[in-house]
Amino acid sequence: MQTKYQPLFTDLRLNNGVVLHNRIAMCPMLIFAAQADGTPSAQDCAYFQLRNEFGQLLITGATTIAPHIQCAQQQMSLDTDAAIPAFRQLATVMQAQGNKGIVQLQHPGRQASIGYAQSHQAYAPTALDFPFLDYPVQGLTNSQIEQIIQAFGQATARAIAAGFSGVEIHGANHYLLQQFFSQYSNRRTDAWGGSLTKRMAFPLAVAQEVLRVARQLKPDFIVGYRLSPEEIHGANIGYTIDESLQLIEHLAQLDLDYLHTSIYSSATFRVPAYKAFALRGNRTKPMNALIHDQIAGRSALMVSGSIRTPAATLDGLNYGDLVALGVVALSDPRFTNKIRTDHLDQINLNVHGRERDLQLPPALIQKYRAKAPLPPVLGLSE
Ligand SMILES: Cc1cc2nc3c(=O)[nH]c(=O)nc-3n(C[C@H](O)[C@H](O)[C@H](O)COP(=O)(O)O)c2cc1C
Repeated sequence: MQTKYQPLFTDLRLNNGVVLHNRIAMCPMLIFAAQADGTPSAQDCAYFQLRNEFGQLLITGATTIAPHIQCAQQQMSLDTDAAIPAFRQLATVMQAQGNKGIVQLQHPGRQASIGYAQSHQAYAPTALDFPFLDYPVQGLTNSQIEQIIQAFGQATARAIAAGFSGVEIHGANHYLLQQFFSQYSNRRTDAWGGSLTKRMAFPLAVAQEVLRVARQLKPDFIVGYRLSPEEIHGANIGYTIDESLQLIEHLAQLDLDYLHTSIYSSATFRVPAYKAFALRGNRTKPMNALIHDQIAGRSALMVSGSIRTPAATLDGLNYGDLVALGVVALSDPRFTNKIRTDHLDQINLNVHGRERDLQLPPALIQKYRAKAPLPPVLGLSE
């Protein structure tokens, strides 16, 4: 290995005492390969087997915590104990090289398009007419909110029973936790909406419940939390980085093992708080640097987004403690080994003609081919 890459292969001790032996993670990615009942398929296992040396933390695609809420075709779901044996097989494959398998737990909220097709119901913090949805959504009742919080805890217990090393709470990318935090989506006037404190209540309650279950059942279970630091779409402002920093402050007080940012842009992990900057003119620091300062070592920070080279992976450590890669993990499962063994010239991000060897499920290829031409590098940052 070239000496300069050594920082990527240093230890990191998480709050729960687990010591990671490198700083590289595989981003959560939906690959549309689960069985009809939401359990992992042989295709899911083959995909992860090929990637089980990619990084110390290997995160599954978004996995739903309740029935009939899926947002994508053939999405995994950990909503029943009957799913545990199939998930155990996936955990075994993911962890066969000593890395940590993490399940990303998700409630899509209003984005539950597949769930809506099955149950004719989709839920959000508030029943609004969202222009980008072609189905109606209902507002959650208080008791439904409580049930969802419990369901996150139950899914955590199932992930533990299946032998995973951790879960990542999906609080990003406009799904239910973010919908509660967003003043665009959450118009409630009860305990779950209104002031910033009340908009934070649901994401924090989910995080507390997941941590409670994890620390009780398996104290060294890893609990991470993913969030999108800004939600600004033209005139629609869900929240700014300033509000996110307050949520992050509360999350950092909870003893989570890591926080993971999801930012949309072409150089995402380095991106300045540019929308806030445009609004207020007083933020020039990269978003992740602001967040890292706010966390102040209380949890690890995982950064990700548009990282395509070993040099960019290394640069990620200037912004956080762990670096997660998505498209690179799809395109070259041996990327990390090639850095370690100094075979950088063999890194190959061109998936063209290699889709089958790379164990990329046909539905994944189809979806992304429809959006953009695949070669030379698979991938859109989404
Ligand atoms: C095929 C695909 C599926 C994705 N699915 C998820 C997901 O399930 N959960 C999530 O938090 N992000 C998901 N993302 C976003 C990635 O985790 C990551 O943030 C994004 O791809 C940017 O990183 P990259 O440029 O290294 O790929 C997905 C991205 C891709 C390309």
